[in-house]
Amino acid sequence: MFPAERPRRLRATPALRRLVAETSLEPRHLVLPMFVADGIDEPREISSMPGVFQHTLGSLTRAATEAVEAGVGGLMLFGVPRTEDKDANGSGATDPDGILNRALRVLRAELGDSTVIMADTCLDEFTDHGHCGVLAADGRVDNDATLTRYVDMAVAQAESGAHLLGPSGMMDGQIAAIREGLDDAGHQDTGILAYSAKYASAFYGPFREAVGSSLSGDRRTYQQDAANRRESLREVDLDLDEGADMVMVKPAMSYLDVLREVADMSTVPVAAYQISGEYSMITAAAQNGWIDRDAAVLESLLSIRRAGADIVLTYWAAEFAARL
Ligand code: PBG
Repeated sequence: MFPAERPRRLRATPALRRLVAETSLEPRHLVLPMFVADGIDEPREISSMPGVFQHTLGSLTRAATEAVEAGVGGLMLFGVPRTEDKDANGSGATDPDGILNRALRVLRAELGDSTVIMADTCLDEFTDHGHCGVLAADGRVDNDATLTRYVDMAVAQAESGAHLLGPSGMMDGQIAAIREGLDDAGHQDTGILAYSAKYASAFYGPFREAVGSSLSGDRRTYQQDAANRRESLREVDLDLDEGADMVMVKPAMSYLDVLREVADMSTVPVAAYQISGEYSMITAAAQNGWIDRDAAVLESLLSIRRAGADIVLTYWAAEFAARL
């Protein structure tokens, strides 16, 4: 008649629920990805990501300062070069005057060590073919030739003021190559946030617009297959051996099982990236009045934290940091 066990007792009031919540979400857990574009005079809203902008250097600085004041844990920068500046080698990535390196210098000068400034270390925004690496004669992405480019890019970003580099190209050996290159150049203190378990995902769709990507085709020869779990653990193992200071799982919401396993085995902090398509889905559903936006965003962020992420990269970082 009377159940002996009554879990509902602890759900009865907001205060009780707050008291017993296992997972927390604080501003410092959130990292804001930001886009800075060359050759634009005003910030440009990304149509498939309402509320997210390609920034000018000026608007980037203002938005970054606001995000830091709101308490975010850090910023992750992506550069969007002019189409005419892209080439097969992604030269703009290593050019100290390329848009991403310029933006890093501006932000570091403005923000100093008051936040953690991170940079995407990958060629896809800078190549005219849109792949994350350089191509061999047969059109495939050449792993080892790409590593040389990543090392040069990493050193340029460290010299421009990035605290942490985020190699996201899924080339084999990229963490070891970048670590050695940074050390040889005297950047022993620049850290690496390795995009270790990065899946080939349809949910990156809006990001292509965000960075004006020229890619046709897909990245399935270097990013992971959604069917697989074990290879994520292998990738994380390798990246830890190669010197990663933090590891990442990406995307987040369709890979929470992977995130949990990585969190259980990792000896370094674990990040998860709530990517463009995850942002756009919630935003679009909310704009249609189909879901409660704020509740859905909070639930999604909490689920990523609950699955084991210490750090969540999310386009909502500044807004939600300000409210938490
Ligand atoms: C590669 C990179 C991508 C994203 C972050 N870094 C795109 C890709 O691998 O196709 C996706 C981020 C997002 O979708 O929000 N430079």
